[in-house]
Amino acid sequence: MTLIQLQHVSKNYVMGGETIRGLDGVSLEIDHGEFVAIMGPSGSGKSTLMNILGCLDVADYGTYVLDGKAINQMKDAQMAEIRNRKIGFVFQSFNLLPRLNAYENVELPLIYRGMSKKEREPLVMQAMKDVDLVDRRRHLPSELSGGQQQRVAIARTLAGDPAIILADEPTGALDSRTGAEILDIFKSLNEQGRTIILITHDLAIVQQAKRVVYFRDGRLSEVG
Ligand SMILES: Nc1ncnc2c1ncn2[C@@H]1O[C@H](COP(=O)(O)OP(=O)(O)OP(=O)(O)O)[C@@H](O)[C@H]1O
Ligand SMILES: [Mg+2]
Repeated sequence: MTLIQLQHVSKNYVMGGETIRGLDGVSLEIDHGEFVAIMGPSGSGKSTLMNILGCLDVADYGTYVLDGKAINQMKDAQMAEIRNRKIGFVFQSFNLLPRLNAYENVELPLIYRGMSKKEREPLVMQAMKDVDLVDRRRHLPSELSGGQQQRVAIARTLAGDPAIILADEPTGALDSRTGAEILDIFKSLNEQGRTIILITHDLAIVQQAKRVVYFRDGRLSEVG
């Protein structure tokens, strides 16, 4: 079943009178439950695509339909609602709040959703279990390794029960062994039925993805 449908999506950035091409007529369909790796040289449009898929930005041209809803026709508030409910982000930098411990970092988005402490606790604990970090939940980010911090960031995303996980270079700041552990987490989340779209330069990840999409100069080509 189709989850994501992009048709002829273009995005330009205008800076100082100059137009910079971000995406140039990209069409792409992704089904529920897919694991897609996105590759391509620096500046080829990968993060631009991620921002559009994640409802952080809108295309200049073309259409984006997510789960049957036309995103490009929505108002900002509606887009924010979809983003909060359906999309989980994981970045290269873990973006954890330094004064909150692991548990509290995972809990924070649920507080923003207005959930009570009682509602939050099982969701946070399940997410910490999914990344195998229950025993480190009282640690501050500075008391965790890079791989553990990334696992907290993944748990924070999971607690919100997103339909799609968008990860932009999630192993980029990690050594290869730790990166492989993070990849294993994404793989098991995919096996549980979550849709994963992952930007990477890491060939080990690409070899394990079921599908690889390659960008060059804002255009897309699929690799078998
Ligand atoms: N906010 C912005 N304002 C102006 N230009 C931008 C902006 N974001 C991206 N660009 C430009 O759009 C093009 C695509 O950038 P994008 O960030 O999508 O590349 P990328 O494939 O993610 O690269 P990298 O692998 O280095 O992260 C680049 O030429 C970039 O300079
Ligand atoms: Mg990028």
